[in-house]
Amino acid sequence: MGQDERINVGIIGAGEIAGAHIRGYLQVADRARVTAIADVDAQRAQRYAEQVSAQVFTDYRDMIASSPIDAIDICLPHHLHKDAILAAAAAGKHVLCEKPLCLTLEEADAVTHAVSAAGITLMCAHNQLFLPAVAPARTLIRQGKLGKVYTARTTDIFALTIAADRLGWRARRATSGGGELIDTGYHPTYLLLHLIDSEPVEVAAMLSRHRMEFLEGEDSAQVLVKFADGTVGNIVTSWAYEAPGGTERFSVAGEAGSLWSNGRSLHYKPRGGEPILVQESGDVEPDTYSLEVADFITCLQEGRRPLNTEVEGVKVLKVILAAYASADGGRIVELKNL
Ligand SMILES: NC(=O)c1ccc[n+]([C@@H]2O[C@H](COP(=O)([O-])OP(=O)(O)OC[C@H]3O[C@@H](n4cnc5c(N)ncnc54)[C@H](O)[C@@H]3O)[C@@H](O)[C@H]2O)c1
Repeated sequence: MGQDERINVGIIGAGEIAGAHIRGYLQVADRARVTAIADVDAQRAQRYAEQVSAQVFTDYRDMIASSPIDAIDICLPHHLHKDAILAAAAAGKHVLCEKPLCLTLEEADAVTHAVSAAGITLMCAHNQLFLPAVAPARTLIRQGKLGKVYTARTTDIFALTIAADRLGWRARRATSGGGELIDTGYHPTYLLLHLIDSEPVEVAAMLSRHRMEFLEGEDSAQVLVKFADGTVGNIVTSWAYEAPGGTERFSVAGEAGSLWSNGRSLHYKPRGGEPILVQESGDVEPDTYSLEVADFITCLQEGRRPLNTEVEGVKVLKVILAAYASADGGRIVELKNL
């Protein structure tokens, strides 16, 4: 920590999402500050550094070695996450890491060991857990308001319009780890695992490239996840089309009732009863990135466990890898056989 007790943060990767994270740090400026930014492209780092008076580095290893920072915020392309986590852990820095945590089971093992050996806190940047309807929905489910849960659906669907040459590392498997599923599809995957109070055991998936031919991977995915308690989850995610009207962000149904949400308002309906509005949506779309960054800082200051650490991050990755294996082989994949 700095002399004034604020947490000093170094950001690695000054692209699109780093801007959203910086917005978050500025909202908790009394408790944290970005003091260093590293990007191989110095100009990119510079444009953010000016906003927060941070020092610029072109090699993040120099930043970690020479800058007095408490925590590292990783906003890099997917294939670079693992090495950056290992470098941060080796230096005893806490980590906020953008999704996905990493790309393979071998990388996941390396990350898990490094974090535990260093005794640092790693928080997965799972921003949609900070949608206002998620915590009350999780509580209702755990209070038994739905009875035995039978089924759940989580979605993240939008029509991405971007030229092939601007998609860069996202278009290639070697750098993204797959296609849409390991990118945007990561959100409804962690959301499903967060809502359902059981362990995922089996995965079946169908992947499609409906529209974006320039992607090496899929632009759309549907994934079924069976949990140990028998709950079946359905993840629907796409960059190819606009979500049809009425598509919920998440819904869960069980023997005693159901709930559904657009992420902001939350509805609950006891079986055979009338729907109840549990939570209003509010007029303003919440900035989940700022909420996530604020929670990271609070976790570090209070020594509290983040909602999702590398433990949950690895579980999410396993479901995604099982979905790819399932689609490849046209079969249901048991997670224990991954
Ligand atoms: N949570 C969300 O909703 C959300 C949204 C967008 C992106 N993301 C995630 O954020 C991460 C970054 O995505 P983005 O859209 O900001 O990508 P981006 O391409 O806009 O930015 C990546 C930055 O990393 C820099 N970089 C590349 N190699 C580097 C290296 N070796 N050292 C330092 N810098 C390096 C690039 O120059 C670039 O500025 C990804 O994990 C992505 O999935 C999350």
